Amino acid sequence: MATFGVVDEDLKVDYKAELLKKVEQGLIPDEEIRSLIRSQLERPLSRMSIANTQANDAAALGIYQWPASFYEIMLGKIMKLSCCYFKDESSTLEEAGIAMLELYCERAQIQDGQSVLDIGCGYGSTVFYIAQKYPNCHITGITNSVEQKNYVEEQAKKHDLTRNVEIILADVSTFETKEQYDRILAIESFEEMKNYNLLLNKIAKWMKRDGLLFIQHMCHKDLAYIQEPFDEDDWLSEWTLYSTGYMTMPSAQLLLYFQDDVSIVNHWIINGKNFSRMCEEYLKNIDGNTVAVRNTLKSNSSNIEEETLTRLSKRMRFMCLFFSELMQYNNGEEWMVTHLLFEKK
Ligand SMILES: C[S@@+](CC[C@H](N)C(=O)[O-])C[C@H]1O[C@@H](n2cnc3c(N)ncnc32)[C@H](O)[C@@H]1O
Repeated sequence: MATFGVVDEDLKVDYKAELLKKVEQGLIPDEEIRSLIRSQLERPLSRMSIANTQANDAAALGIYQWPASFYEIMLGKIMKLSCCYFKDESSTLEEAGIAMLELYCERAQIQDGQSVLDIGCGYGSTVFYIAQKYPNCHITGITNSVEQKNYVEEQAKKHDLTRNVEIILADVSTFETKEQYDRILAIESFEEMKNYNLLLNKIAKWMKRDGLLFIQHMCHKDLAYIQEPFDEDDWLSEWTLYSTGYMTMPSAQLLLYFQDDVSIVNHWIINGKNFSRMCEEYLKNIDGNTVAVRNTLKSNSSNIEEETLTRLSKRMRFMCLFFSELMQYNNGEEWMVTHLLFEKK
């Protein structure tokens, strides 16, 4: 029997229509119908590990394998691939990046001498901010992207920070360690994971007795959902650069339901317009450097076709437009960013 996922769209429709017809005609025995229902039920369950199997595919094929030099153009000096905090109209992207990093240190109660783990460290914005501000902190970053690991390690050498910066290439869902940390940060990496109960259970084991966990994630004010088309006309959910079903959009309160191993200490909301404004700054950086963007994407693959170069940079622009519109919708009070501080139970 044909299984979904390996047949093309037309065959899927034929198969479904035919199946329903046979069910309605009473041609399929109950035992077989039950078995078909059970195998359908297992499909969502198989996606409930911490990071579904798409996590590695997306890292291998997706935007985190783009050259870091592209991100240097788009993100600017701070290399922060997550919401910045624009204190006022005149704030630049760099100032807004620093303002948000400062807020992490304050809200996560970072002090010099602590050990810090940054889950999903990206291009090292948080790692380097802490390493420079607190020279006696030891900061470990985890990323599932080779490109990000190489970039952060190069920068650590360049800025003489190898003594207190360490980067681990790992998928958090399978990563294990006996180490325990004073502070654990996860800045917009939970959106790329699932099964928060399992994830928080794991992270809690990495926290010292009096350790704190600080999380920043995008959210909708009330709804939690997986980013995937909700009907066949939903082209928007299909066109983001992440593969469909990869990204989770938690609600602002979602993680409060997962307090088996950690307890909430504080919870803040940041208006979505901050995220939107950051995307507008990314767009300006891409549009103001079109030749450099093409050259840097070319440097990743010498025989890349012109058409592919245009397609990639336009898709990234589309992603910025998408997140900008999403986050400014309803004055930034529909989708937004939340900060959560947890202690170990
Ligand atoms: C949106 S980026 C945020 C990067 C960084 N925290 C920042 O603020 O710039 C998400 C990060 O999470 C990482 N990530 C996503 N899923 C992961 C997984 N299963 N294991 C390890 N890292 C993961 C990505 O490689 C990326 O570095």
